[in-house]
Amino acid sequence: MTLDPKTVERIITSIKNNSNYDFSNYSRKSLNRRLTRIITEYKITVNELCIKLQNNKDFLEKVVKDITVNTTEFFRDPDLWNFIKKSVLPYIKHKKNINIWHAGCSNGQELYSMMILLAENNILDNANFYGSDLNTDIIQKAKNGKYKLFLNETFNENLSKVFDNSDKIKSKYFDINFSKDIVSIKPNLLKKPKYFIHDLVKQTDFTDKKFDIIFCRNVLIYFDLNLQNKIFRYFYEKINKNGFLIIGLHEAIFGKELKLFNQLKYQVYKKIK
Ligand SMILES: C[S@@+](CC[C@H](N)C(=O)[O-])C[C@H]1O[C@@H](n2cnc3c(N)ncnc32)[C@H](O)[C@@H]1O
Repeated sequence: MTLDPKTVERIITSIKNNSNYDFSNYSRKSLNRRLTRIITEYKITVNELCIKLQNNKDFLEKVVKDITVNTTEFFRDPDLWNFIKKSVLPYIKHKKNINIWHAGCSNGQELYSMMILLAENNILDNANFYGSDLNTDIIQKAKNGKYKLFLNETFNENLSKVFDNSDKIKSKYFDINFSKDIVSIKPNLLKKPKYFIHDLVKQTDFTDKKFDIIFCRNVLIYFDLNLQNKIFRYFYEKINKNGFLIIGLHEAIFGKELKLFNQLKYQVYKKIK
């Protein structure tokens, strides 16, 4: 089953009229998939859905969380992390105050991956980490830093592709409880990042700091080109001179926004000027 385009518009409008969330610029293909699933799982009609969105704030929040896709991994796309190690860290390692923002950080696995990379290169103490996401539950998961191992099938594989001594990395940064199937971030890493609920659609600031690296991976793919370009311009303003923007492997900067950045490899962009 898929929804007809008018129905999708009706649900988007209903969410928009009853909250601060605006999905008008989200790609219709992915929205259609998510909304169809919601309607099937909740066993309700479109009419009932729209009435509940209007009358029940908790339900609306739940639907918003169901719309967002939170898939993530530690060291997702290992080649990218090897590239960051070789070609990005040399530019920032001399800095006393390195600011890094993970926009759309999901449950924090990407952010903790970056912390580990910096720790292994002896520059963690100079860095400040910010993680943000639209989804309040997922930000709480990031703060908790506890993950089901079976959900992390790629955990061992990715670590061994980025580090020669991956067993040492595991015991240094994670507590692993095999009987409970839980991998936890060690407390010394866990206390460092600051997390924010933040909606990229609005492009508001949660800090007046500028960043040396902004990660925004596998988030923009859910937005239309117009919104993507607005966000690229916003990121450009928020990145320090010679700073980096890192997006997902299936995302790209097109058109006049591309003039703001030099494209390196693996969707790593360096701010021009
Ligand atoms: C697929 S995950 C990507 C996680 C991580 N960056 C990675 O690549 O592994 C996309 C994340 O973007 C978040 N997101 C979706 N819309 C957003 C918005 N408007 N503002 C901020 N975050 C958003 C979702 O909640 C989700 O956690």
